[in-house]
Amino acid sequence: MKTKQTIAILGATGNMGSAIAKSLAKGNNRLLLFATRQQRLQTLISGIQSETPNADVEAYDCPTSASWEADVIVLAVPYSAENEIASKIKDVANQKIVISIANPLNDHYNGLVTASDTSAAEELQKLLPNSRVIKAFNTVLAADFTTPVIAGMQVDAFIAGNNTQALESVSELVRTTGLNPIIAGDLSVSRTLEQMTLLLIQLNMKNNYNWLAGWKILHN
Ligand SMILES: NC(=O)c1ccc[n+]([C@@H]2O[C@H](COP(=O)([O-])OP(=O)(O)OC[C@H]3O[C@@H](n4cnc5c(N)ncnc54)[C@H](OP(=O)(O)O)[C@@H]3O)[C@@H](O)[C@H]2O)c1
Repeated sequence: MKTKQTIAILGATGNMGSAIAKSLAKGNNRLLLFATRQQRLQTLISGIQSETPNADVEAYDCPTSASWEADVIVLAVPYSAENEIASKIKDVANQKIVISIANPLNDHYNGLVTASDTSAAEELQKLLPNSRVIKAFNTVLAADFTTPVIAGMQVDAFIAGNNTQALESVSELVRTTGLNPIIAGDLSVSRTLEQMTLLLIQLNMKNNYNWLAGWKILHN
């Protein structure tokens, strides 16, 4: 059995944070969950424990404390909150893997607020220069975690980053969620991955996919 990983999820009660927490609780992971609303967090933890009785989950009311013992930190907050959260975890996130799941969508869902020569992940790396920022889970919709196989096909989950070991580690984490990890390239590939999700969201709204949709690379 693989060594137990300690994973902090910041913004754990949100759509993505809770979906990732429920999914990762099923694997050999210790979860440190931070949320601003403690009652909601307790409800989430009770739900996880009834679904996965041997889940190893703890509640935190501070992102710094939640990240202190973590091997991996998942930032499940909106892009607009990343600056604030990054400043709180900077000192405890040194050398750690920090997963950027953000899609920096504008208010109209018709573009990104980031410039074309950067991405949410690259901006996070600038805020956390001593951490290993990895883009992951951003191309996956929250509902895909409960249904990682859609229309008979396993949803692909693209990963980007600059550190080979961290990419492998996050691939393994993705695999435990039932999604199919694909390492897409270095951190700058996040620009494409964030645009891909913008398109997926637009297609979802246009074609009524009911927020259950994902990307699949067909290959031989
Ligand atoms: N939803 C999706 O299917 C999806 C798919 C791929 C990627 N993403 C990305 O995932 C991230 C989260 O999206 P979401 O849909 O899960 O949003 P959400 O449901 O609104 O959840 C966001 C969470 O962040 C917390 N939060 C917001 N501002 C905060 C702050 N300043 N300090 C601490 N916590 C804060 C919120 O806590 P409170 O409610 O207590 O304020 C909430 O729990 C976004 O970056 C989004 O682009 C979402």
